[in-house]
Amino acid sequence: MTSLLKQTEQTLEKAQADINPRWYPRYHLAARAGWMNDPNGLVWFDGWYHAFYQHHPYSPEWGPMHWGHARSKDLVHWEHMPVALAPEGPADVDGCFSGSAVVDGDTLALIYTGHKFHGSPDTDDNLYQVQCLATSRDGIHFERHGMVIDTPSGLHHFRDPKVWREGERWYMVVGSRVENTGQVRLYSSSDLRKWQDEGIFAEADEGMGYMWECPDFFTLEGKRVLMFSPQGIAAEGYRNRNLFQSGYLLGEWQQGQPFTHDGQFIELDHGHDFYAPQSFLTPDNRRIVIGWLDMWESPMPEQQDGWAGMLSLPRELSLGDDYRVRMKPADEVTALRGSYYPTPACCLRNQKVLITADAEAVEVQLVWDLNASTAEQFGMALGDGLRIYADNQAQRLIVERRYPEYSLVGTRSIPLPADGLLTLRIFIDRSSVEVFVNDGDACLSSRIYPHPAQRDLSLFANHGVATLQQAGYWSLDK
Ligand code: FRU
Repeated sequence: MTSLLKQTEQTLEKAQADINPRWYPRYHLAARAGWMNDPNGLVWFDGWYHAFYQHHPYSPEWGPMHWGHARSKDLVHWEHMPVALAPEGPADVDGCFSGSAVVDGDTLALIYTGHKFHGSPDTDDNLYQVQCLATSRDGIHFERHGMVIDTPSGLHHFRDPKVWREGERWYMVVGSRVENTGQVRLYSSSDLRKWQDEGIFAEADEGMGYMWECPDFFTLEGKRVLMFSPQGIAAEGYRNRNLFQSGYLLGEWQQGQPFTHDGQFIELDHGHDFYAPQSFLTPDNRRIVIGWLDMWESPMPEQQDGWAGMLSLPRELSLGDDYRVRMKPADEVTALRGSYYPTPACCLRNQKVLITADAEAVEVQLVWDLNASTAEQFGMALGDGLRIYADNQAQRLIVERRYPEYSLVGTRSIPLPADGLLTLRIFIDRSSVEVFVNDGDACLSSRIYPHPAQRDLSLFANHGVATLQQAGYWSLDK
């Protein structure tokens, strides 16, 4: 371990002891202390799932990026590991930015962006982003090999390599910005060290953003998926409401050709906070995605508690008959379930019914019969700050958060399902909610900041009747 990494561990140990735990997740992954953003290098290696992440261990603000590290046997119980990479080489002197991991024989390889300025950091003209390699035999200690791809001439924003194996070669997509157009570049290699430029893989059409961050490319049930996080798409009605988006294009690709897409960009998650998702394969070939459960430039009240940022639950992807990507909690998530508390399936009429006084870490399951529900609004509330409800007039499912003391007030929503049943799996942690709709149709994820004394969970129906076919919750245990 380098002396910088040793110092980082000492700092984290001290900072961890000082954290205020009121909003620190009970069953999601967050940094021990300090700042976290994107998930990086998600991979199965040597009997463990590894999650690396963008990390600033020295404060709960974004700063020179390190790679934090945790590992898990089951994707839900995580063990913190020593920080894997610090910005300490000539190629990554100002930060080890996002990237990915692959298993090459008995070696775990991390491919990430080295971020550096040649001169003053006040202008992008001095910014250089290059792709770097680090390898490990034990999955814990990494040997750094420095730069493997230099910044293409004329570019400055060139980051977030995602590597995969196809046929006899390694391929890499990299996000980039060419003037005001987002792009994905493609490279290929036989040994992860020497890379061949394969040209432009995909490019933003008019209005599709000035920078495409965190590209990821994979096959899902025979279709090719380009998942990425564009910056610079304008909000339109209910769509693209967040400052930045994350979503996908479906299409076709053959080696030696650019990617061609069939339809429009679709957001992966419809809540307030989901960005920079990355995918990986489990040993039994499920495609799992984990995202950063935050949004750039959004208030993060937990910063006053000594930490910031968390990752989403692992979600399994599949392809719907309508060629939309479906996303539901990975099966492993049920391992968190403790006792089940059924709420007598019932009818609510202009009333509010308490389910539990203290919902800190729970999974709620609700099956609403929309055809037998005339109430104008009906759903679930957590304290005064969060409501997840069907609005019968707007015909939408709404996630509404109201934390005016932190400037976090507003709604996100999706259309109500047409087929009469609204099945919700709602995961509440100390400062997050993830709502999975109709077994994969849609997901809405948001950060929430309830006062610890206001975690009462209730069901309500306003102005009419609402009918539940099933209702109950599990307490979730670590
Ligand atoms: C995405 C991102 C990446 C970059 C990293 C820096 O959230 O902006 O493009 O590599 O975060 O921390």
